[in-house]
Amino acid sequence: MPKPKVYSTHPLFEEARAILDTSSDVVYWTGPERPPREEVLRHLKDKEGLLCLLTERISEDFLRAASKLRIVANIAVGYDNIDVDACTKRNVVVTNTPGVLDETTADFAWALLMAVARRLGEGELLARSGHWKGWNLDQLCGADVWGKTLGIVGFGRIGRAVARRASGFQMKVIYTDAVRASEDVEESVNAEFRGMNALLAESDFITLHVPLLPETRGLFDSPKFYRMKPTAFLINTSRGPVVEEAALVAALEAKKIAGAALDVYENEPFIHPGLKRANVVLAPHLASASLETRTKMAVMAVNGVVALFKGQRPPNVLNPDVFKKH
Ligand code: DGY
Repeated sequence: MPKPKVYSTHPLFEEARAILDTSSDVVYWTGPERPPREEVLRHLKDKEGLLCLLTERISEDFLRAASKLRIVANIAVGYDNIDVDACTKRNVVVTNTPGVLDETTADFAWALLMAVARRLGEGELLARSGHWKGWNLDQLCGADVWGKTLGIVGFGRIGRAVARRASGFQMKVIYTDAVRASEDVEESVNAEFRGMNALLAESDFITLHVPLLPETRGLFDSPKFYRMKPTAFLINTSRGPVVEEAALVAALEAKKIAGAALDVYENEPFIHPGLKRANVVLAPHLASASLETRTKMAVMAVNGVVALFKGQRPPNVLNPDVFKKH
């Protein structure tokens, strides 16, 4: 039997390739940059499987040009790059990679939080600059983290993993979410529920962990920044468009908040020039980027593709309705 034809928009990691190569006739994009859309579509003319990254936009017109496609395996937990309904209409299965990146992403949210509070970016620049004149009493004094109030917006797996880490810093943890967690969960991570406005008013650090949905797009807008403490910091490792960047820049300029630490941006890889300021820590969408975790994500996505072509239902299917049709 001929092997299913698969295209991967990334060479992946050896562990993932070893699984895919034995079961599929696979072509990998190996260029140093992300592949141009036309290049992906050129390859997809005869492919049944696609492994893609969050930088690929899988839209109605994309699917029209890839008529043999049966599965899109997104190597990311967020899937706002994919028109899932359009995939369902065309019987294309969509999968993502939940669970394996929660702890790594939570670690990174903390790295950003610590960096912005303690002015690590500025300190690093000074230490490397050759202009450091030695210790001084008031040099680069930041804000304490320990004992402060951490506000978590979005209390899913990653939000809870962030909450668990706060106990070592003796912080008070509050959270908000569309759905309140059970008492057991709240107790296990020592977190209290708040409405959004109360969370904005009380928190010293606000960290975002919501998916990008129509209702979370632009969630952090000007009125939200004006409700935050002027000493508070915003941390975003979710999706860029959850924050209105122009409003954030205006709030920073007006000193309505103390600073921000961002891993994600409204129009990646573009970064609003107004964010390139001393009290903003910037990272290039790295939160899940440990070698162990990125490998797990690739392996998980590959396993889904392999399962489908073996006639099984892959785990982490985002549009199970596709299977109801058969
Ligand atoms: C995701 O998985 O959605 C992240 O943004 C990349 O790990």
